[in-house]
Amino acid sequence: MKKGDNLIIGCSGAKHLIKAIAKKSKTNYCNLEIERFPDTELKIRLTKDVRSKNIYFVQSFYKSKNTDVNDKLIEVLFAAHTARELGAKKVFLISPYLVYLREDKRFKKGEAVSAKILANFCKVFDKVYVLEPHLHRFKSFKEFFPNAVKISLGDEAANYIKKKIKGEYRIVGPDIESKQWVKSIADKLNKKYSILEKQRFSSRKVKIKGEKILTYKAIIIDDIISTGHTLIEATKLIKAKEIYFIGMHGLFSENAVKKLNKKGSIIVSNSIPSKVSKIDCTNALAKIIK
Ligand code: R5P
Repeated sequence: MKKGDNLIIGCSGAKHLIKAIAKKSKTNYCNLEIERFPDTELKIRLTKDVRSKNIYFVQSFYKSKNTDVNDKLIEVLFAAHTARELGAKKVFLISPYLVYLREDKRFKKGEAVSAKILANFCKVFDKVYVLEPHLHRFKSFKEFFPNAVKISLGDEAANYIKKKIKGEYRIVGPDIESKQWVKSIADKLNKKYSILEKQRFSSRKVKIKGEKILTYKAIIIDDIISTGHTLIEATKLIKAKEIYFIGMHGLFSENAVKKLNKKGSIIVSNSIPSKVSKIDCTNALAKIIK
C-alpha cells in the first residue's frame, strides 16, 4: 500500500495518541466529527474524503469526560459503516484498549458473552488491531474473532523496566491469566517470575493465594488495572522494600490510583491517558499502518 492511499481517523478515545501515530507512520490524519443530539444520540461525520482509501480508525475505549465506553463503540461502528458506504477501499480499527473482552464465557445462565457479540459487531472492519487484548478462556482471537490481530507491548514494557528499575527484583503475576504478560516480559529481561492464584467472587472482591514472596523489589504485572483490588490483594503475599505495579491498561475505576499509591508505584501504558501512563504504545501502533 502507498502511504498516500491511507488516512488515519481519530475517534474520541484517541485524541492523546493520534498525532504521534500519524507522525510516526508518516500518514495523514483527521479527527472524527462527533456531535450529540439533545436526547444524547450521537451524530457522526467523516470530514475527509475516504473514497478508495485505506481508512484506519483509532479508538481506545475508556470513560472520558463526555463519552463512556458504549458511546465510543457506537461512534466507531457508525463511522466504519459510513466509510464503507462512501467507498473506502479498506476499513481498519486500531484499538489501544478494546472493551468487552472480559466476558468471554456465560458465567451465569442468560448472561451475554460480550466478547463474541463484540466480534460480530466488528465484522464491518477488514481487520481489528488490538493492543494487548484480554484473552483468557479464548486463547487466541482465531477462536471467536477471526479478523482481529493481537499487538504486543512486551518489548516496550521490558525496555521500561530495564531503564527505570535497577538492581534485583522479582516479577510477579497476580493470577494465571497474567502469565502471558509476566512470562514474556520476564523472558525478555532474563528474570525469574512467580504466578499467584486468584479467585474472583465479584468485580470488587478477589482472594489471592500462593507462595509468600520475600524480595528487595517486586514488580507485579497484570494486563488491566481496574479497581486495583487484584494488585492490592497480591501485595499481601509479598514482603518487599519497593513494589511496582505494571499494567498494560490503566482503567483506574473507583479511586484505584489513590489506593495503589499507598502500596507502591504505578506504571501503565498510554493506551488510556493518565498521570501514570509511562509506557508509550504509539511506536507499536504506528507500525501497523503500511
Ligand atoms: C482480570 O480478568 C484481569 O486480568 C485483571 O486482573 C482485572 O481486570 C483487574 O481488575 P481489578 O483491578 O478490578 O482487580
